[in-house]
Amino acid sequence: MTPPLAPALADQLRRLLSNAHAPYSGVHVAAAVEGEDGRLHLGVNVENAAYPQGVCAEASAISDMVTNGGKAIRRVYLASSLPGFIWPCGGCRQKIWEFATPDCEVISFDADGGEERHTIEALLPLGFRL
Ligand code: THU
Repeated sequence: MTPPLAPALADQLRRLLSNAHAPYSGVHVAAAVEGEDGRLHLGVNVENAAYPQGVCAEASAISDMVTNGGKAIRRVYLASSLPGFIWPCGGCRQKIWEFATPDCEVISFDADGGEERHTIEALLPLGFRL
């Protein structure tokens, strides 16, 4: 995904927010994971009445990438119903790290057309690898 396409992707993620299943927190999150082949894999958060069973949007998107044969993450894109920019939870930073090089960018869109980005290494310093 080249940067000029990001506004279209931001709109796609904002539309996807309505598909999130978040009756408990009320926070809707949508994620897109771009594989090394350029394919985009989408996900939303899926909460559960048994709270710990809920799944983050990033985890959903990564599962789709792996299910479809993807081996590496080039970029991650995020949008949410919260004001401002959101960044992956600690667990999702580790899940991204598993498939990314340290310079992989996580790009967050706000509701007003803004975007900010950080590398996964900045979000997860000294990340764990085997
Ligand atoms: N959530 C995500 O989907 N991704 C994150 O990186 C942070 C949190 C979801 C989990 C839960 O459904 C809701 O946001 C509130 O925590």
